[in-house]
Amino acid sequence: MKYHILTLFPEMIEQGLHTSILGRAINNGYISLETTNIRDFSANKFNRVDDYPYGGGAGMLMQAQPVYDAWKAVAKPAEGKKPVRVLFMSPQGKTFSQEMAKELAQEEELIFLCGHYEGIDERVIEEIVTDPVSIGDYVLTGGELPAMVMIDAISRMVPGVLKNEDSGVTESFQENLLEYPQYTRPEVWESKKVP
Ligand code: ADE
Repeated sequence: MKYHILTLFPEMIEQGLHTSILGRAINNGYISLETTNIRDFSANKFNRVDDYPYGGGAGMLMQAQPVYDAWKAVAKPAEGKKPVRVLFMSPQGKTFSQEMAKELAQEEELIFLCGHYEGIDERVIEEIVTDPVSIGDYVLTGGELPAMVMIDAISRMVPGVLKNEDSGVTESFQENLLEYPQYTRPEVWESKKVP
């Protein structure tokens, strides 16, 4: 599985995902991560990527052009291959679920688009996004944390990522059940005995 992440904060993604189980999965080649800084595609001499909303309104919006050019740089459609899905992190999107993680894990590549400020010019969203996704009914400051949450959940479903091949697919969460409580040694801890 290859993940491309379009973001204004690549270091946030890199630092968050190069540790623990996902770090190991990257080193072992089960997944790969390529971050693209949208700011590198600014056409503005001050490297700006945001502007005031057309016709007024509060806050700033990310402009269409740098987002579109960043997407074009990573989404080179290979001959005979279907276009890579573009997941846009948005509180208005479809709510992310275990089912969706499993389905997305079947793809060879995925592109994550992370917004910041008050949002992104709708025209580029219409042009490139295939799947708007929300990670829950709350509003975050940007799409980077949602992308990391999704990449974690999807990667667990990629064969080889978990040491015990089975645990991602067979574990009870998959069937929407709760795993029963588990214990380790010692048998008695703080006068509590393993039942
Ligand atoms: N961006 C801001 N809030 C979000 C959320 N809840 N899910 C996905 N992307 C977001």
